[in-house]
Amino acid sequence: MYRTHNCGELRLKNVGQPVTLSGWIQKIRNLGAMTFIDLRDRYGITQLVIDDKSDSSLQNLISGLGREFVVKVEGKVIERSSKNSKIPTGEIEVKVDGVTILNPSEIPPFTIEDDTDGGDEYRMRYRYLDLRRNPVKEALMLRHRMAQEVRKYLDSKEFIEVETPVLIKSTPEGARDFVVPSRMNPGEFYALPQSPQTFKQLLMVAGFDKYFQIVKCFRDEDLRADRQPEFTQIDCEMSFVERDDVLSTFEGLTKHLFKFVKGIEFNEPFQKLSYQDAMKYYGSDKPDIRFGMQFVDLTDKFKGKGFVVFDSAEYIGGICATGCASYSRKQIDELTEFIKKPQIGGKGLVYIKMEEDGSIKSSIDKFYTPEDLKAIAIQMNAKKGDLILVMSGDKKKTLTGLCELRLEMGNRLNLRDKNKFAPLWVVDFPLLEWDEEVKRFFAMHHPFTSPNPEDIPLFDTNPKEVRANAYDLVINGVEIGGGSIRIHDKQLQQRMFEVLGFTPEDAEAQFGFLMTAFKFGAPPHGGIAFGFDRLCSLFGGADSIRDYIAFPKNNSGRDVMINSPAPISSEQLKELSIELRKV
Ligand code: AMO
Repeated sequence: MYRTHNCGELRLKNVGQPVTLSGWIQKIRNLGAMTFIDLRDRYGITQLVIDDKSDSSLQNLISGLGREFVVKVEGKVIERSSKNSKIPTGEIEVKVDGVTILNPSEIPPFTIEDDTDGGDEYRMRYRYLDLRRNPVKEALMLRHRMAQEVRKYLDSKEFIEVETPVLIKSTPEGARDFVVPSRMNPGEFYALPQSPQTFKQLLMVAGFDKYFQIVKCFRDEDLRADRQPEFTQIDCEMSFVERDDVLSTFEGLTKHLFKFVKGIEFNEPFQKLSYQDAMKYYGSDKPDIRFGMQFVDLTDKFKGKGFVVFDSAEYIGGICATGCASYSRKQIDELTEFIKKPQIGGKGLVYIKMEEDGSIKSSIDKFYTPEDLKAIAIQMNAKKGDLILVMSGDKKKTLTGLCELRLEMGNRLNLRDKNKFAPLWVVDFPLLEWDEEVKRFFAMHHPFTSPNPEDIPLFDTNPKEVRANAYDLVINGVEIGGGSIRIHDKQLQQRMFEVLGFTPEDAEAQFGFLMTAFKFGAPPHGGIAFGFDRLCSLFGGADSIRDYIAFPKNNSGRDVMINSPAPISSEQLKELSIELRKV
């Protein structure tokens, strides 16, 4: 028998019991008369003690042990004289009678403790050792808990889990596909799914009116902290629903997860914000609404006073930072440098300080009278002690810059507490996005998203203005999920493909299977997909999704542990009818 108990289990009530434990040696401390060993497994750590009165063969064996050896230990539970309140087993220790080495270990490349000395490269190369560390282990345990609760909730709402294929077909929309050559069909390729979108719609045609799947998706795009080339979605679709049916079901799922995983109850409905308002007040389609500091459009107020920068600007917008009028020259300069970073591209920052003595100081005193500034302060709802920050220029760029500035101020003022959660539905996205480079429309969400019924006539007159029946769930500024009510009408779907620049032949070649299916009675349907890795990292309070994935890729899309991607042999290439060109 390897163990009677695990390493996180023993308490004072077990004192006196003979026990057998198995696990990894985390640490050995030899204090002369006594040797202490921390024995670790998935469940916790138990302190072992061996005194110098133990028999010499045991003492010899102990002296040969090292970090990460796997051992089986027999002994008796005793009460500790100096207790450790930091760990659940801290009131006891096991007085060792016998040790069996189940497997020795080389010295690990980094210490396997909560705060490791291992750099990123080593942690990823020896990920199985990294996974022994508490923070990473707990991240995966949280992920497991969440997956169980997702299944429990969706099952209780009569959703059925259906698996869809992984080898599918490349389509021109969305991100770049990962492709897989087919040996049996020389010169032809499968693509890995960016999402099971078309399959879940086909399941609706098949009559499975509530589908879900916790599913791997693959996208060949530039990676960021919250993006992996292979990631997981909680993917769902429902028939005979309108937008608010989908939103209330998945608001219910989100609330269920918060309640049963984090112990947080949301009693109010989640806020809803239109895309237009999200852009107007936050400069982003995923606003962090844990704090206010909404933008105020000052374009009309500021223009016409001879300040060329503002007079020539398409848009002038401001935010009000409560209590920041005391910011020093240095602090203002830092903010100016921040918005001038190439990725933000701001040209300059104007400030207006609402001094405690009632006066107003600004960097544009030359052009604006105290009355002008007062009128602006009133519009901004700024009070004594507040700091107004203003950016101007091209509208789109300025809104983006102001968004970054707002988030930076949120960080500086500690308004982005990781333990506070502010969910938000963003609705009424535009259906189409114009790409100036290739001079055509792209679907902002995907080509199967239904337009708002009242906007359909705009297809012919002003496609840019057509709103989509689409929605995103945003929590703390992170896009957690997105979905839409779909087009279920063959004609409308064809019209959409036309607007997207597909010839009827292209549309037939790419999506003929879906158009054909729609001839056989497609029900009205809609759905959503949550980014599961993102949801887990949000619940865990982390910015990166990496530690919520057992074996993630690095920023160049490599798995440095198995060293992938890697070349394949010339035989394999030949079998696949592929010839490589030197680049
Ligand atoms: P969408 O493309 O918005 O919608 O994806 C849904 C959610 O998946 C997450 N996500 C990612 N997470 C990690 N790494 C990535 N590379 C990555 N890309 C996306 C995000 C996102 O909100 N088929 C539609 C859904 C639908 O319409 O039902 C879809 O895939 O959290």
